[in-house]
Amino acid sequence: MNHSNPFTYGNPITDAARFVGRARQIEQVFSRLRNVEFESSSLVGERRVGKTSLLYHLADAAVQRAHGLDPARYHFLYVDLALVDATTTPARLWQYLLGRLETSLPARAFEELDRTALDNFALAEFFDRLGAQGQYVVLLLDEFENVTRNANFGPDFFYGLRSLAIHHKLALLTSSRRELIELTHSDEIRSSPFFNIFANINVRLFSPDEARALIANALADDEIAFSASETDALLDYAGAHPYFMQVACHFLYAAYAQRHSDAAREMFWRGEFRKQAAPHLAEYWRHSDDKEKIVLAALALAETPRGAAQGEWDLSALRALLARSERVLAHLDKRGLVRRLQERYALFSAFWREWIVNALPEQTFELDTGGTIPFVQALQTALAQSELTESFAETELPAGLSPRELEVLQLVASGLSDAQVARKLVLSPRTVSTHLQSIYNKLGVNSRVAATRFALEHRLVKNPPKK
Ligand SMILES: Nc1ncnc2c1ncn2[C@@H]1O[C@H](COP(=O)(O)OP(=O)(O)O)[C@@H](O)[C@H]1O
Ligand SMILES: [Mg+2]
Repeated sequence: MNHSNPFTYGNPITDAARFVGRARQIEQVFSRLRNVEFESSSLVGERRVGKTSLLYHLADAAVQRAHGLDPARYHFLYVDLALVDATTTPARLWQYLLGRLETSLPARAFEELDRTALDNFALAEFFDRLGAQGQYVVLLLDEFENVTRNANFGPDFFYGLRSLAIHHKLALLTSSRRELIELTHSDEIRSSPFFNIFANINVRLFSPDEARALIANALADDEIAFSASETDALLDYAGAHPYFMQVACHFLYAAYAQRHSDAAREMFWRGEFRKQAAPHLAEYWRHSDDKEKIVLAALALAETPRGAAQGEWDLSALRALLARSERVLAHLDKRGLVRRLQERYALFSAFWREWIVNALPEQTFELDTGGTIPFVQALQTALAQSELTESFAETELPAGLSPRELEVLQLVASGLSDAQVARKLVLSPRTVSTHLQSIYNKLGVNSRVAATRFALEHRLVKNPPKK
């Protein structure tokens, strides 16, 4: 018997029939494209969580039709920005994009385009002409950090792109590991309103239903079926994470195809899964900051059955630290490294827990003062010192405002003039106006009225001005 394994994990999913779940994210993207503003979105998620697969799926003509966009008029172009390197310039990138578009757009769209002078005006005219012909372009820009981090792509490039997206009927779908606002190499770009044209759409773990659908979908026409208890064990050990599930399922399927006994099957898939998964978990760990590592370690130890050989950890101290770490946990949830249960957070899989507990003894922690200490010592300190752990409780500020900017915004929104704010905070009027400019940029507004409205909508003011 020759089975071809229906579970794959090396490459993104390109066949819409093999793509599972993500219905809510897909509808979010399309509903923003369908509205008159033709709005852009940014997919944010960790490596391997399924961003590229999702972009390919969105680029599928049948999927577009099913979501109310006519593929004869809406042209989706997938671009892997890993191609961008130190020698790439914005002009070169546009040349490449237009070359690719030429294969799907009507020839007359290109008649008046002078490709040797591709400035923002030429591009604006190009997309305007297309719009007038009822043709629209959606650029799917995978691994967008390759341009936000590239010094050749300065504010001009991002302002140009923003203007095309707002006024000239171009839509962008980006994917990146972190939110765009956290990525860029320059403060000037970070404080520009470029990023507020995007809605962030987080690509996280699968829901339990999506996870089960992945298995059911792959095995629908197959004579091999996983038993219910095997499926439960697999979901517990690999987690509801598309990549890790595909890996575990791949090896469980292979064990069936090789006609292993029940016990041998389990040994086989778990062993192969660990080998394949470990380097990716190591990568998630490396890509976590100190606070995230402390919280991940506390979760792993709190979840580990007592009596295991990890040394003695005070369970109530671990829980107390976790209770103070809402902001970090929420961020780890966005990254898909933990999942939210009803009353608490848990690591996304049993193997992730195992991996962390085993890795801890070798980890070190860099001190602010220079020098390193063993990680477990840093964790002990975090558990003991209320001061170190209190900062874990900070809540995330909206729109990337700094604590000082929040203060200024609150005062402005409660009706104070610049001079009054300056007196109240003991700042110079000039500093207040610098803060205000930065606040406007981050909120994407250009008046006190609009900033005040933002503050009210986000419940940032305790005493709104009396009318
Ligand atoms: N929606 C999905 N349905 C089925 N499998 C998926 C899905 N999304 C991701 N996968 C699996 O996860 C792997 C990694 O996905 P990929 O799109 O390459 O992630 P990313 O671009 O975020 O790094 C894919 O090779 C595939 O095995
Ligand atoms: Mg990818």
